[in-house]
Amino acid sequence: MRRSCVIAAVIAAVGIGSTFEAAAQQRKPEDNIKMRKAAFTVMSWNFGVLAAMAKGQRPYDQAEAVKRAETVSLVSHLPFEGFPKGSESGLDTRALPEVWSNPDKFKTNQERLQAETAKLVQAAKSGDAGQLKSQVGATAKACSNCHEDFRRK
Ligand code: HEC
Repeated sequence: MRRSCVIAAVIAAVGIGSTFEAAAQQRKPEDNIKMRKAAFTVMSWNFGVLAAMAKGQRPYDQAEAVKRAETVSLVSHLPFEGFPKGSESGLDTRALPEVWSNPDKFKTNQERLQAETAKLVQAAKSGDAGQLKSQVGATAKACSNCHEDFRRK
C-alpha cells in the first residue's frame, strides 16, 4: 500500500509535463469546437464596441478603444488552437472542410487577422478617431475574407 503510494507520487512528479501534453492532444472534438466558438464570440463582442465607435453609434473614447483593441488583438490568437484534425464535427459547427483541406490558406487568413488587430491597437493608441475607423474597416475585411472561404453561411 505504502509502496504503491510512493510509486504513484514518483510517476506523478516525473510524468507531469507529458501528462499535460497528452491532455492537450487528446481534447475531445466537442471541447475544441466549444473553445474556438467561445474565443470568436469574445473577440466579436469586443470588436463590436470598436465597430460601434467607428459608425458613430457610440461616443469615441480613446481609453475604451485601447482596452477593447488590446483584447481583440490578444484573443485573435486563441481560436486557432481549436482546429486540430478530428474536430471537423462533434458539436454544432460552421467550420467548412476547407479549414483542414487548405490549411495554408487558413493560416494566411489567421496571420492577416493577427496583423490587422495589432494595427488596431496602434490605431486606438494614436487617439485619432479617423485612424481607428479605417483600421476597424481593414480588420472587418480580414474577418469577412476568412468567413467567405472557411465558415458556413
Ligand atoms: C482565419 C479565419 C477566420 C478569421 C480571420 C475570423 N474568423 Fe470568425 N470564424 C471562423 C470560423 C472557421 C468560424 C466557425 C467556427 C465553428 O463554428 O466551429 C468562425 C466563427 C465566428 C463566429 C461565430 C462563433 C459561434 O459561436 O458560432 C463569430 C462571431 C466570428 N467568427 C467573428 C469573427 C470576427 C469578429 C472576426 C474578425 C475580428 C473573425 N471572426 C475572424 C474563421 C475566422
